[in-house]
Amino acid sequence: MKPRRLLVTSALPYANGAIHIGHLVEYLQTDFWVRFQKMRGHKCVYVCADDTHGTPIMIRARQEGITPEELIARSYESHVRDFSDFEIAFDNYYSTHSPENRAFCEAIYARMVESNSLTTRMLPQLYCEHDRMFLPDRFVKGTCPKCQAAEQYGDSCDRCAATYSPSDLADAHCAICGRKPVLRESEHIFFELELYREYLREWLPEHTARDVSNKLMEWFGEPLRAWDISRDAPYFGFEIPGHPGKFFYVWVDAPIGYMASLKNWCDRHGESFEGWWNDPGTEIYHFIGKDIVRFHCLFWPAMLHCGGFDGPDQVFVHGFLTVNGEKMSKSKGTFISARTYLDHLEPLYLRFYYACKLNATTDDIDLNLDDFVGRVNSDLVGKITNLASRGAQMLHKNLEGRTGTMDAEGRALYETACARSAEIADYYERRDFSQAMVAIRELAEEANRYFDAQAPWKLIRQDPEATRSVLTSLLNSFRVLAIYLKPFLPGYTAQVEKLFGEEPYNWDDTAKPFENRTLNPYTYLATRIDPKKVQAMVEASRTAAPAAAKPAAAPVTPVKPEIDIATFGQMDLRVAHVVKAELVEGADKLLRLELDIGEERPRQVFAGIRKAYDPATLVGRHVVMVANLAPRKMRFGLSEGMVLAACNPDGGLFVVSPDDGALPGATVQ
Ligand code: MSP
Ligand code: ZN
Repeated sequence: MKPRRLLVTSALPYANGAIHIGHLVEYLQTDFWVRFQKMRGHKCVYVCADDTHGTPIMIRARQEGITPEELIARSYESHVRDFSDFEIAFDNYYSTHSPENRAFCEAIYARMVESNSLTTRMLPQLYCEHDRMFLPDRFVKGTCPKCQAAEQYGDSCDRCAATYSPSDLADAHCAICGRKPVLRESEHIFFELELYREYLREWLPEHTARDVSNKLMEWFGEPLRAWDISRDAPYFGFEIPGHPGKFFYVWVDAPIGYMASLKNWCDRHGESFEGWWNDPGTEIYHFIGKDIVRFHCLFWPAMLHCGGFDGPDQVFVHGFLTVNGEKMSKSKGTFISARTYLDHLEPLYLRFYYACKLNATTDDIDLNLDDFVGRVNSDLVGKITNLASRGAQMLHKNLEGRTGTMDAEGRALYETACARSAEIADYYERRDFSQAMVAIRELAEEANRYFDAQAPWKLIRQDPEATRSVLTSLLNSFRVLAIYLKPFLPGYTAQVEKLFGEEPYNWDDTAKPFENRTLNPYTYLATRIDPKKVQAMVEASRTAAPAAAKPAAAPVTPVKPEIDIATFGQMDLRVAHVVKAELVEGADKLLRLELDIGEERPRQVFAGIRKAYDPATLVGRHVVMVANLAPRKMRFGLSEGMVLAACNPDGGLFVVSPDDGALPGATVQ
């Protein structure tokens, strides 16, 4: 078999949150695959990095009173420690905040400019005048326009799953300070994805699973929407060359981080980057979760193509982790960080369990905590490890730890195990890890049947040499299983290598039987899980839930400072007669009102009350307006004041009116 050259990546975890057991679904499955490829003798490089840029990281650092650089340095350390404790073996774990990454971003951007793939246009966006920044969707909160659930994010509702834009929220407020944002325009740079339509149409079906590509193909019914790749200062990221104050959107430099990590690895290992990324002999594979498919299967291949780089050979997409059949939940204690897990349980168990559950589909995988304990205890400990612990200990106790030759039945057992090598390798190659586990378990069950039928604990009294043969057969079968398990349980198999006194196993080492040699002393390989420890882990997670990659919860009602009567008196509140009320094209939140307050001409006011009022019902009514509010230029025209309305906590809106008799222009005090 000719050695292959493989470059493998997992998605880059955000630097503002701890690694949790959901993330581990991805990093563990990639690690299984990479370790398998290496055991097969292929040249395989596994790179990853922290994803360090963007608004949430900037805000998190600000809230903690440290610089973003300090924040990402701290995350880097804890991520690396978590991964290494889970035996996830990256060849390089780097950072997107690196000189290599900046250089690749600038090079690809230059190609975007040269190939006329960019356009610019003005974009109105919510802006917080207090925090002096544009607010990404996730930093705007308010009441869901569909189901009226309060305190939802600006892009989608957690309760009814509706998606919308932040300006659709009834009572949009800044998630950082709680104040009401304003609409402000600024110039954005767009990557014209439509120019890559034909390339992507051909690329997709060949480089992703059918369900993934079919889903993405649905976007091709109309022109592909241009992708906004710029963000305005303040932003933690790379400034766009020639555009002071504008930064690459984090999703531009994040996947480029794969290249930066590879480049950094190449430089440290005397390898050439071009010899890896753009060499037709290299296969490139990305492992990602189903939430980030659009970035990896549309924008990323188009960017690479534009930049003159090869696209990935395959993007492998997995599903999401559920715990006990539900989304991970902080209140239920199932949002478990890698560190909390490690404080209570051995990484081996989770590696084993995920391997039992994972396959190549995008189906979600469930960690059922009872099943987790059951499978580890019955299969890993009861069926597999017991073969070694009983076999080796019996051999040491009675037969000086020396193996002999296998008996006929035992050799057949061993050969059956060896014969499944290609089949199991194929499961690994196809990422059908659960099938590999099924096969391994079947072999373990056969070995246990042989052990029980031979009853060496009785046989030893009559025929020690026959017993030696039985134990030799049993240990040889176990040894094959340990080789098959090595990508899943590297630490475990390393112990087995020590037991047999052999060099690190490669895939083909199954074919070398272990006979007439002495075993090293048996050291424990795996013990049963005490369910109490799982319980304790859940309890610890209930309180020690890590901050997710979301901004801190904002106060529902902004706290306003106390004011004196003079300050209040500065407000010019007037009774206004609604002369005209109409819809505003392109603004589904606003109504345009003309308000008579006894001046020469009526004032024009844009009021965010459309969802609550049919404009026709407002005409002729008396309302209250702030008449001395500085006029505000909006996309639709000048707004010359504001109408008072009561906002219920559930988002309901009610315009304030004076009792009958108040005349237009009357002051309100
Ligand atoms: N930073 C981006 C990826 C940039 S790649 C150029 C990101 N980070 S993440 O930390 O949110 O997620 C990292 C990976 O973990 C993603 O592939 C994501 O799908 C996966 N998972 C995060 N939570 C998960 C579960 N609960 N279950 C399974 N996978 C999960 O996205
Ligand atoms: Zn704010």
